[in-house]
Amino acid sequence: MAVEPVVYGASERPPRGDYGRAGADYTCAQDYDSYTAADHDTYRRLYERQAALLPGLASDAFIAALPSLGVKDRIPRFEEINERLHQATGWEIVGVPGLIPEVPFFTLLANRKFPVTDWIRTPQEFDYIVEPDIFHDLFGHVPLLFNPVFADYVQRYGQGGLKANERGACEQLSRLYWYTIEFGLIRERDGLRAYGAGILSSSGELRYAVTSPEPQRVPLALERTMRTRYKIDSFQQTYFVIDSFQQLFDMTAPDFAPVYERVKALPELAADEAVPGEMAIAA
Ligand code: PHE
Ligand code: CO
Repeated sequence: MAVEPVVYGASERPPRGDYGRAGADYTCAQDYDSYTAADHDTYRRLYERQAALLPGLASDAFIAALPSLGVKDRIPRFEEINERLHQATGWEIVGVPGLIPEVPFFTLLANRKFPVTDWIRTPQEFDYIVEPDIFHDLFGHVPLLFNPVFADYVQRYGQGGLKANERGACEQLSRLYWYTIEFGLIRERDGLRAYGAGILSSSGELRYAVTSPEPQRVPLALERTMRTRYKIDSFQQTYFVIDSFQQLFDMTAPDFAPVYERVKALPELAADEAVPGEMAIAA
């Protein structure tokens, strides 16, 4: 069954994935034979560059889990990763042609399935790509699915997404995804570190997010975060900081229905807006 492609935010290009290959749940088999030698080489070079940047900038849990991805000199097969991932946390990765709509996305996460785009960027996009590709999805997201507490958080996000959809609160909830799973920072013993996939898979934003004096860094707080708009095509101007994955898990345990009501009654905040009295966290 053919499904429609999805675009989030403004973009001049249509999404490049072939949605005709996807089933009704938007998943597709990883088309491994379609990868060229150049594709494998792009993956190898992206991995090598990014892995070298991690010390002192990526969270300990991420660095510890990265080797679980397996091969780094070619694009891995999803089945190879799934053998280890399923054993570690009961999660599995599934192929998708690109971004998928909210309800199928939440449904996959609620069932401990993480959608991974199966195509890789072109060499011209080596430094920056707006759409997620296989490198972003695998390198950025999959290592922390080996972490039991973080893996539980992502599943609960999917369950919460289905509830938010019924309450017309997807936009509010998606900001929490953006500022944690994609662009989250964590305060560790040795200082601030990145755990968000959008940071960890970006050569430029990793150092910027953790060390630049430019963006503001503030403690993660549900309502504050859900009010804050975000930019999809530039480095973030605000990062939200947690102290542990357990804190993230516990903070999101309560029913969000009253939180959504309060957030919807408050004005939105711009991506770079400062809130008076808010504690800034030094880089
Ligand atoms: N507690 C949220 C709710 O009741 C669900 C949720 C959990 C959302 C974790 C995001 C992250 O809707
Ligand atoms: Co992502």
